[in-house]
Order: sequence, then structure tokens, then C-alpha cells
Amino acid sequence: MEREIYHPPVLLKESIHYLNAEKGGVFVDATLGGGGHTEAILRANPENRVIAIDRDEEAIERALKRLEPYGDRIAVYHANFSQIDKVLEAEGVSEVNGVLFDLGVSHFHLRGERGFTVWQEQPLDMRMDRNQKLTAREVVNELPERKLAEIIFKYGEERFARKIAREIVRRRKTKPIETTTELAKIVEEVIPKKLWAGRKKHPAIKTFQAIRIYVNKEFEEIETAIPKAAHLLKSGGRLVVITFHSLEDRLVKNLFKKLEPEGFKIVTKKPVEPTEEEISQNPAARSAKLRVLEKL
Ligand SMILES: C[S@@+](CC[C@H](N)C(=O)[O-])C[C@H]1O[C@@H](n2cnc3c(N)ncnc32)[C@H](O)[C@@H]1O
Repeated sequence: MEREIYHPPVLLKESIHYLNAEKGGVFVDATLGGGGHTEAILRANPENRVIAIDRDEEAIERALKRLEPYGDRIAVYHANFSQIDKVLEAEGVSEVNGVLFDLGVSHFHLRGERGFTVWQEQPLDMRMDRNQKLTAREVVNELPERKLAEIIFKYGEERFARKIAREIVRRRKTKPIETTTELAKIVEEVIPKKLWAGRKKHPAIKTFQAIRIYVNKEFEEIETAIPKAAHLLKSGGRLVVITFHSLEDRLVKNLFKKLEPEGFKIVTKKPVEPTEEEISQNPAARSAKLRVLEKL
């Protein structure tokens, strides 16, 4: 039987510690993915229950296999985490001890065939939820130049956004842009070579990040879900959020600040980061930051 390769969970010990998962209770894993964090929560205390959410049906299918031994201590929902209130309502739960968000894409997405990576030739898709209509192909081939430039600048912090958008629009007039490689090449041609040649980071990474965030409405999801999740905590309950880039981290930091006067305490004045040891074992953890909010 083929061995499943799961997403290596990031800041795992730290997540369990800050969720107070050893103390026992009901927890929400808002980003089930490969199920690594969920499994660790279930193991932290035999009384723990996890209500897990993911918008990706394929991820759920794989995680369910792994979580079979935990029986009815786990309930899994295919949903957007912005619907966390509806999920808990369906579960008949009105408040929980902790909620975890481990944002972004998983190892499974990056190794898959949905065009999340600049490093392999794949169709431009980038949907986390394959039932969704909007794909990266539509974004790249159909949005007006100004909108494309705005997305690449806002969600990629790419200073060549306008030039990249102009070149995309010029190219698509002759032939639609179909694959990750075609898009990556366009960006490569626009950004001066001296800024990226010989570096490990592909020059199109920021553009890819921007399009992915737009396709999956990632920031709208976070903006809706975090306040909802915070208000679903019991007194003393904790919200733990792991982000993977500066825009995401800033968004979470500001959402926490806004919530503070509504009966919450920011536990992590500075975000928790992975140890050198974790980064050496899992380089994908390099940019991770964990923030914690507690309900008073
Ligand atoms: C970084 S992975 C989580 C990995 C997981 N903690 C583990 O240990 O395997 C993020 C997961 O969140 C899911 N996701 C991202 N945004 C979501 C959203 N708005 N609603 C529901 N799931 C989402 C993705 O489909 C992906 O499977």
C-alpha cells in the first residue's frame, strides 16, 4: 500500500501549548489539511473532541483515513472557515475551548496538480475548493489590466505589478495563458534579471501568491472568521493563528487589536516563530508566525 505523505504540521508543540489542549475540552481546527494538528490535539488529552473544517474535499478524504482511530471524538465539515458559526450550530455546540487556524496552502496543494507552484508546469487553477467556479485561469485571462495590477500589487506587494499586468494583457490577446509555466515566464521577462538571477526564490512567487489569495478570497475569509471564532470561545478559551507571510500576519495582528477592547487579551505581544531546529527539518516553516488571543 502506498504510504500517505502528510503535510508536516508547523509549530505543532507551540500550538498545543497555547491552545491549552492538555487541559481537555472541545476544539475547532479551522484548517484540517492533513490532520496533523487535529491528531495532536486529540492525543493531548483523551477527553478532547475536535470539530474540524476544510474547504478542500480531497484534503478531508485523506485526513479522515488518518483520523479513523479517533472515532466520534472528531467531526469533520467541508466548509469555508468563515462559516464557523454555522458549523458549530450544526454540531450543537455554542462555545469552545480553543480554535486553531493554520492558514494558507498545504504540502498536499503544493505537491498536487492545481497550479499552486511556479516550479511545475500545470494548468492555472489555484482553487482550494474545487467546487468553486473562479479559477486562476479566468483571473489571468479575463480581468481588466487595472484590476490585475491592483491584485498583484495588493496581495503580492510586487512593485512591478503594473508592468506584469500590462504584459499579461498583451500576451493573452494572441493566445490565452493556460499554464503556470507560461505565467511564470511572463513575470520572469518583466522583472529585471539582476534582481532575481542566481537566487533561490522564483521571481513569480509574489504574483502567484497574489492570484491565489484573490482566487480563494483568503483575506475576506480571515476577516470574517477570526472575529466569529473569537466570540465562540469560552472564558479563558484561546484562538491560535499561524500565518505564512507578512500581509497575512499584519491582518491577523490588526484583527486581534480590534478585538482586544471587546473582552479579549493578546497573549503573544510578539509572534511565536519556529526554532532553528524546526526550520532545518521543515524549511516551509521558515516564515511561520503564531499569534494567540484569549477570551477574558
Ligand atoms: C496549512 S494547511 C493546514 C495543515 C494542517 N494544520 C495539518 O497539520 O496538516 C491549510 C488548510 O486550510 C484549508 N483552508 C484554507 N483556507 C480555508 C478556508 N477559508 N476555509 C476552510 N479551509 C481553508 C486548506 O484547504 C488547507 O487544507
